[in-house]
Amino acid sequence: MLRSIAPVSVLLTLLSPFTTAQQKSIDAEGHQWWQHAVFYELYPRSFADSDNNGIGDLNGITSKLDYLKDLGVDALWITPCFPSPQVDFGYDVSDYQNIDPMYGTLADFDKMMGGAKQRDMRIILDFVMNHTSDQHKWFLDSKSSKTAQYRDWYVWRDGKGQNQPPNDWLSTFGHAAWTFDPTTGQWYYHFFYAEQPDLNWRNPAVEKAMFDVTRWWYDRGVSGFRLDAVDTLFEDPKLKDNPILPGTNQYGDPNMDNKYNTKLPEIHGVLQRLRKVADEHDAVLIGETWTKDIAELKNYYGAHGSKELQMPMDLMFMTVDKLSPPEFRRQIATVDSAGGWPVFVISNHDKPRSYNRYGDGQHNDPIAKVMAGLYLTLRGTPIMYYGEEIGMENNDPKRKEDVQDPIGRTGWPKDKGRDGERTPMQWSDSENAGFSTAAPWLPVPPSYKTHNVEEESKDPNSILNFYKNVLALRHKEPALLEGEYIALNESDPNVLSYLRRYKNGAVLVVLNMSSAPQKVSFNLKPQGFGGAKATTLVSTGAPTGEVNLSELSLEPFAVYIGKVSK
Ligand code: NOJ
Repeated sequence: MLRSIAPVSVLLTLLSPFTTAQQKSIDAEGHQWWQHAVFYELYPRSFADSDNNGIGDLNGITSKLDYLKDLGVDALWITPCFPSPQVDFGYDVSDYQNIDPMYGTLADFDKMMGGAKQRDMRIILDFVMNHTSDQHKWFLDSKSSKTAQYRDWYVWRDGKGQNQPPNDWLSTFGHAAWTFDPTTGQWYYHFFYAEQPDLNWRNPAVEKAMFDVTRWWYDRGVSGFRLDAVDTLFEDPKLKDNPILPGTNQYGDPNMDNKYNTKLPEIHGVLQRLRKVADEHDAVLIGETWTKDIAELKNYYGAHGSKELQMPMDLMFMTVDKLSPPEFRRQIATVDSAGGWPVFVISNHDKPRSYNRYGDGQHNDPIAKVMAGLYLTLRGTPIMYYGEEIGMENNDPKRKEDVQDPIGRTGWPKDKGRDGERTPMQWSDSENAGFSTAAPWLPVPPSYKTHNVEEESKDPNSILNFYKNVLALRHKEPALLEGEYIALNESDPNVLSYLRRYKNGAVLVVLNMSSAPQKVSFNLKPQGFGGAKATTLVSTGAPTGEVNLSELSLEPFAVYIGKVSK
């Protein structure tokens, strides 16, 4: 009997009828692989269910690699798939070096990795750095006694008095950020749920163990990490109370300025050292950084010659909730001028889907194309969220008892939690959208009948085919990959226009963000393109063929992408 001594990915490579595509890290002009890659965030619980138990799994993902390749995706970011009690659906990790049985096995992981490599796709994982699960063996030991080996791996303190936590800090998921543990009579700190105790990053042993986790996955073939909640790694050692702000939040707690438990400067030392490890493996670090301004963003790239995150996922677009050209212009200008490689994200597993955030209820499909036309053509790397390419919408729970995400129960009805944006991928119009023959862990919205991969593949005007066209263009058009971003017609309140200029060529992008027809005109002589004409590359609701730039007519929510000449 053949004993499996080599990882499955190695065996696959040996046995495969395909040769493993050579994954080039850097092109002839010095661009790194992650600068040209389109990333796709995939929530494993909801993507594809191979064993029909209502919950997605790794073999499900493997079965959809051809779909993803065909769509134009180069790298997958898989949200946590490690063993976990699933209180925060995987963001409470109880073992960093394994796969949750619900999702499969390490052998399934290797198979998925082998399949991705064969298709010249990369995989990055989610690195939950700030906290572990309270069921992680480190925490179980830590709580067992004050002198336990792992005691100092977490943040333990005496209370201020009987039943009084050490200070006023609040969990971002509601109520006190401290939980009392009777075994040792001390409180432990958790920025998120009580089941997610914060690691003590001031302890060098924590850093070493966590960095080793990344090395272990690099050796298994992963190409980088999305770093979860990096802002929260450190706390003020003196535990100063945070300033209280006026009003209360959705959980009924006072509003608070998290001055002493978020964004502490010590974070940057950790990221610089983590980057060294990543560089040894040609890996990318994408940070969940939620920056509020350019100064913060610059620091995450690495200030004063240091290197930190190649791609701080500033999430600035997530704060623009309406189709506002001036607002987008402002955010793009900030990100574009920060001196690093921008990252653009319009949806993720923590925020209502872009289809709902930007949709007006009447023109949601054309608006979804406008948003795709925007973030897939900017200078930088786009990170898609599964289902965005078919216009998936939020399906928020209708009753409190149906809510899965604990914050949806704490905050009900003001905050219904994040279930709505995590529903199963819509593959077809059959039952449960073709995701599973069993009832899925979250229900699909009624729109799955029309918005699904199978139906949209057949319709040349679907959102899916629009994504495919723009992604294909993005992969072959140097100006879209490399070109500088030049804002055009900057006072136009309705139409967002810009040029992507690279060497002798340029691509013009024009997005009508209004529900009224618009006429726009461009003089691109100052930018070096006096031809006054454009050759259409992608057009929806706008002219095709050779276009005169002195008067371009746009239907409501039109997208025009064209090549301009000298
Ligand atoms: C950010 C993740 O995106 C979110 O889903 C999670 O709940 C928190 N970090 C805690 O890990």
